[in-house]
Amino acid sequence: MLFFVRFFECPYFPLRYPATPTMSARPPFPSRPAAAPPRHPGSHPDEGDSNLSPHRRQWTERVARDPGHEMVEGDAEFFFHQSLSTPCLAAIAKAEGIWIEDTAGRRYMDFHGNNVHHIGYGHPRLVAAVKKQIDELPYTPRRFTSEPAVALARKLAGITPGRLSKVLFATGGSDAVDMALKLARAATGRFKTVSFWDSFHGAGFGGMSVGGESLFRGDMGPLLPGTEHVAPFACYRCPYGYKDIDGRPDLDACHLACAEMVRYVLQKEKDVAAVIAEPVRAVPYVPPPGFWQTVRQACDEVGALLIFDEIPTGLGKTGRMFVCEHFDVVPDILVLGKALGGGVMPISAMIAKPELDVTAERALGHYTHEKNPVSAQAALTTIEIIEDEGLADNAARVGGRALGRLQEMKASYPLIGNVCGLGLVIGVELVEDRETKAPAVQAADRILYRALEQGLSFKTTMGNVLTLTPPLIVTDDQMDRALDIVEVAIADEEP
Ligand SMILES: Cc1ncc(COP(=O)(O)O)c(C=O)c1O
Repeated sequence: MLFFVRFFECPYFPLRYPATPTMSARPPFPSRPAAAPPRHPGSHPDEGDSNLSPHRRQWTERVARDPGHEMVEGDAEFFFHQSLSTPCLAAIAKAEGIWIEDTAGRRYMDFHGNNVHHIGYGHPRLVAAVKKQIDELPYTPRRFTSEPAVALARKLAGITPGRLSKVLFATGGSDAVDMALKLARAATGRFKTVSFWDSFHGAGFGGMSVGGESLFRGDMGPLLPGTEHVAPFACYRCPYGYKDIDGRPDLDACHLACAEMVRYVLQKEKDVAAVIAEPVRAVPYVPPPGFWQTVRQACDEVGALLIFDEIPTGLGKTGRMFVCEHFDVVPDILVLGKALGGGVMPISAMIAKPELDVTAERALGHYTHEKNPVSAQAALTTIEIIEDEGLADNAARVGGRALGRLQEMKASYPLIGNVCGLGLVIGVELVEDRETKAPAVQAADRILYRALEQGLSFKTTMGNVLTLTPPLIVTDDQMDRALDIVEVAIADEEP
């Protein structure tokens, strides 16, 4: 049985952390109730951990006297309270490499990072390039262009697969998804879409409408018309009722029912503009072999476009520069964001096939900062860093090792129902019972806070999936340390 390292012994809580005798005598945190309560109010089984859970309350009480806590209180006073956001865990004072550090001096390995931190926080080459760009040319008004904007467009056209080569930039992923939806409508003369339940494509009305999570769609009145949804691929929890073989699909039984359903809906509807999807789901769930080839073919049969949203997973995170490269399928439109700005600048991009350049008399992406030279320079330098430092290969290697170790852990801990992922998009799905697969939501929430206490930050997805998405610069040692923390926290749940 493994035990938690106490605060003052933990290398990730150096002496700056107030190691008072009272603290070192504390029992493991958060404490485990005698009988697990039902799913706590405010929990969101389709998205991340809730900031309303009892474990969050315990955490907040525990850090309430920390230096800088008044910032968390100020945040809660002035910001709208919203799920997954405000109230906050802590106020961050520093972000460097894979680390974030709060105002009390606690350092966390950031295995969440909103997937913006591929190259690590504050990469010196990126910081220098951005500072230089600010000095040389901070902005270009619309109707003018600049060297960084053109260089970034050329770079994206050069590295994206197939004939993807025409771009538009925006400041956030939700806007880029909107541009992709508008382009699909304009290019096909149709307005319907097919997308997946449980997906997320952004917080704007376009993303909400094609997304499939109640947290974002709920209580908002009418969304975009014509946005059909189908059940997603999820081999461990197949919505079509097929049994998995240790997390993998039984293709002889299911015959890719999930992909065939997309074909079925496309053929019934006949006039769908586009299918939009995350090629690897952020849960994370990886598609069964042949899924995307089948869907690509089904789109071509009815003249629907295929849009891949690689906003969190593109740019090397899965071990290839683009997720679609794993599946040998080229979408008609690819959407990137998050890490594109190197964790410093907000920038997103839509890259499409040249024959879709049909809207010269309209405006698809009329965003004030569409060609901001500082954002463009940040994105260009970020891509160069990913290439020059071999970060996609590192993601494949370190992620592959981690998945191997997690599979071994699964053999030892019945709480782990499934391990899934690709590169550094890794999920550990916790279940109360391997037969029923009942989601172990309470255990996942406890493990999250114990890990935070030990210096590891990650988020949970669907309530019971520990979702580990470290930056691409993560080393073997850091990954080992993170998995040690996860293993100790899981072991502590065992009866
Ligand atoms: C798959 C996916 N699409 C779209 C978005 C929206 O991006 P943004 O938050 O930059 O608007 C996100 C953000 O989490 C995402 O994960």
